[in-house]
Amino acid sequence: MLPEKVKIRTIEYGSEDYKQSIKLRDEVLRRPWGHSISEDNLDHEANDLLIGAFADDKLIGFGTLVWPEGDTAQVRYMTIDESWRKHGIGSKILSALEKAGREAGKSKIILNAREKAIPFYEKHGYKLIGELKVPAFIPIPHAMMEKEL
Ligand SMILES: CC(C)(COP(=O)(O)OP(=O)(O)OC[C@H]1O[C@@H](n2cnc3c(N)ncnc32)[C@H](O)[C@@H]1OP(=O)(O)O)[C@@H](O)C(=O)NCCC(=O)NCCS
Repeated sequence: MLPEKVKIRTIEYGSEDYKQSIKLRDEVLRRPWGHSISEDNLDHEANDLLIGAFADDKLIGFGTLVWPEGDTAQVRYMTIDESWRKHGIGSKILSALEKAGREAGKSKIILNAREKAIPFYEKHGYKLIGELKVPAFIPIPHAMMEKEL
């Protein structure tokens, strides 16, 4: 159940809320492995769908939808602040991204899941389509997953 004070809304590229997303992603997804989000080229996010979860005005969750050609979109950067996990926030953001993908006429979503997040995505109907591999950008195993919309 989503806590009452948590609100889900889209984030504008380059805004103050967007800057919060850079900080959250840096802290959760990159720093623990000695990397920085500044190593990622995020220019394409001007064209992506960016969704945040806010408690008051503090960003506590984030995820994006990237729109490759054809019938497939990709979910990226799913990040929930550690103290807010297991409250249904990741699920709400993922559902909002899927809804947008469906409304844009996409029939499939793919994503590159961290090993620890695979059970979360399986709960949401995603299936593994690849082997666990350690990508260049972060030293932990990831596997490709997909879901038909
Ligand atoms: C993975 C992540 C996005 C999930 O977000 P969340 O807000 O904690 O997830 P929810 O509360 O919506 O969980 C939904 C369901 O998945 C389960 N779940 C969530 N994370 C899980 C995990 N790591 N392992 C097993 N189950 C998990 C929850 O228990 C819940 O199940 P239920 O409905 O039966 O109670 C979040 O843990 C996170 O940000 N992790 C660190 C960063 C990361 O790994 N991101 C993914 C990159 S691919």
